[in-house]
Amino acid sequence: MIDYVHPEVPTQDKRWRLVQAEMRKHGNAHSALIQTLHAVQDAYGYLDPETLERVAANLRLPLSKVWGVATFYQHFRMKPSGKHTCVLCTGTACYIKGAGELQRAVEEYFKVKLGGTTEDGELSFLSARCVGACGLAPVVVVDGEAVGKLTPEALINHLEGVIDADQ
Ligand code: FES
Repeated sequence: MIDYVHPEVPTQDKRWRLVQAEMRKHGNAHSALIQTLHAVQDAYGYLDPETLERVAANLRLPLSKVWGVATFYQHFRMKPSGKHTCVLCTGTACYIKGAGELQRAVEEYFKVKLGGTTEDGELSFLSARCVGACGLAPVVVVDGEAVGKLTPEALINHLEGVIDADQ
């Protein structure tokens, strides 16, 4: 599992910068919540819990309020649409150690583009900028668990195992 990251801790995730820009545009006001949630969904594809915590901290709103609004509107997705998720780290360390090859392998084998979900709905393939486990590069996070030092073959095997396990 990835260590819990406190919402005030800066992140290198470029997607978060897009969200920050949206909040700044609205003066980080409480009333910017809905626009901010739209920005999170546009950038991440769904509203993940860690990002909601960051939003709450930045807009100085209770987390319960943020969750309340996020779950009230049907428009917002609370998780990626696939049954399983594989988040590919595309940070510098992982990139140097072959994240590009992992990406190609998953795209070819599962016929899914980065940011998409397989046709059978089994796997969403997402990316993140540094998941904080650079020593294990190249890293993916599969269903919340970081798996590192991967070759393309090892990653395909791992994903097949995860998908097969609940079939
Ligand atoms: S760059 Fe991939 S975990 Fe840090």
